[in-house]
Amino acid sequence: MKKQWWHDKVAYQIYPKSFCDSNGDGIGDIPGIISKLDYLKELGVDIVWISPMYKSPLADQGYDISDYYSIDPRFGTMEDMERLIMEAKRRDMYILMDLVVNHCSDEHEWFQKAVQDPDGKYGNFFYIRDRKEGEPLPCNWRSYFGGPVWEPLPGHPDKQYLHVFHKKQPDLNWENPEVREEVYKNIRWWMEKGLGGFRIDAIINIKKKLPFSDYPADRDDGLSYIGNMLEEAQGIGDFLGEMQEKAFRPYQAFTVGEVFNAKEEEIKNFIGDDGYFSSMFDFAGTCYGKSGKGWYDSRKYLTPDEYKSCIFQTQRKIGDMGMISNIIENHDEPRGVCHYIRPEDLCEASKKLLAGVYFLLKGLPFIYQGQEIGMENMKFTSRDEIDDISTLDEYQVALDAGKSEEEALEMASAFSRDNARTPMQWDAGENAGFTTGTPWLHVNPNYTSINVAAQKDDEDSVLSFYKKLARLRKNPVYKDTLVYGECIPYLEEEENLIAYERAGEKRLLILANLQKDSKTVALPAPAEEVLLNNLKIVNFTDETRQEIALAPYQFVVVEIL
Ligand code: GLC
Repeated sequence: MKKQWWHDKVAYQIYPKSFCDSNGDGIGDIPGIISKLDYLKELGVDIVWISPMYKSPLADQGYDISDYYSIDPRFGTMEDMERLIMEAKRRDMYILMDLVVNHCSDEHEWFQKAVQDPDGKYGNFFYIRDRKEGEPLPCNWRSYFGGPVWEPLPGHPDKQYLHVFHKKQPDLNWENPEVREEVYKNIRWWMEKGLGGFRIDAIINIKKKLPFSDYPADRDDGLSYIGNMLEEAQGIGDFLGEMQEKAFRPYQAFTVGEVFNAKEEEIKNFIGDDGYFSSMFDFAGTCYGKSGKGWYDSRKYLTPDEYKSCIFQTQRKIGDMGMISNIIENHDEPRGVCHYIRPEDLCEASKKLLAGVYFLLKGLPFIYQGQEIGMENMKFTSRDEIDDISTLDEYQVALDAGKSEEEALEMASAFSRDNARTPMQWDAGENAGFTTGTPWLHVNPNYTSINVAAQKDDEDSVLSFYKKLARLRKNPVYKDTLVYGECIPYLEEEENLIAYERAGEKRLLILANLQKDSKTVALPAPAEEVLLNNLKIVNFTDETRQEIALAPYQFVVVEIL
């Protein structure tokens, strides 16, 4: 793997609507982000990915863009954005925007023009097909947010358009070179402003299997999961390679793709030395236990051994081919501590343990806002508390499958995207210090105990532990090993133990005992130094320091000979 400037960095994701509100309108904004740059710097963050802030009706919270060249006034102005980029640069930090180009908003000028004249230039920017009453749809794919992907074109009962997400997110026709050129032009325009690069949204969907055709129905609605079509769609590499060449490479942009389905033989193309992207996220844990029937039928949390199998599977697959990006949560997922830790094991120590396990894997660690203080899922008690369109769909799917309202709410508490979207908990004051107004989404009631102010001066807090992790990763003595060293699973069969070695210039052993009982572990070589520990003491049980009795939920990093 060729070394790159971003390999030894630490990244952070901001969900702007919920991060920090500077003007009291209940919605986070760019000046709010600027005011927290020093906080992020102190945490050890170098790269900041911000979810979309472009002009948008916010039907999918900004992932429905109506103008790629402007900032939504709710988030601030273009001047604010330019100031943010500059303020980040002053701190040696890089800003990533979200590139949402599988679709735009139905309020985008292109779609408006397509509606006016479906047979004109802009009609071909989208997938528009004829529609006749009583005739089947062009295909039976189910949109990710529920229902068929086809929607009648407004004002044209004889036409319909394709949307793989919400109907307010019409898919752009990537087969049309004019669309692609518009996308590249936009990327270059933003790169000229001094961006570090982009996180690339939903990108696997840009290549459709054409002509449209049906796939076997997999639910009672007669529709078929889009993934079935994506499996068969060939040729996405042509688009991605072109985008890399025309838009990213000239700027050496850092790019991280939201790629769910890369096959083993494609990894090199995606994130190898000359890959389409710099990196992509590891979603093995995200996908584990998800049922085709819906969230109601999915695994609410993983056991330590299941989680372990996910991370090691990815580490083995990627090897030295490229640099994966490691996460335990993002704005589409429940809180990592509630998903990768069994409820009976959830405590301060296990939160730090999980942090340590994923952060020190080979790859670029991304921290999602609030993760660094151990924010947890919401407890939903009524449907009215749900904002997210995807959760509302899954709620209905659960009811239709015969689940009670209570069960459907339990499902929302375990999976809703709102879990990650509740406002950032800055302090124990009103609205968790997020806003002086009325927050757009309810604050998690646990903010009085889980917040930044309570943790920032406490050496033993989750927040301080994240800082220690970032410092360790950047420590000149260990950096090369932690960034480039091989990741070798250790005692993989041992129940509830997650252990691996990072082997490079140094040998570092990462040990995590994710259970309520202690566990004695033999080391492959005598321990030299303990570099990190989430509890007070480390109990070596022999004189040669080749055996450790790990306390419940203990996490240690030891340098071995
Ligand atoms: C991605 C985003 C998600 C959004 C979807 C449609 O998966 O992360 O939040 O709803 O794409 O843009």
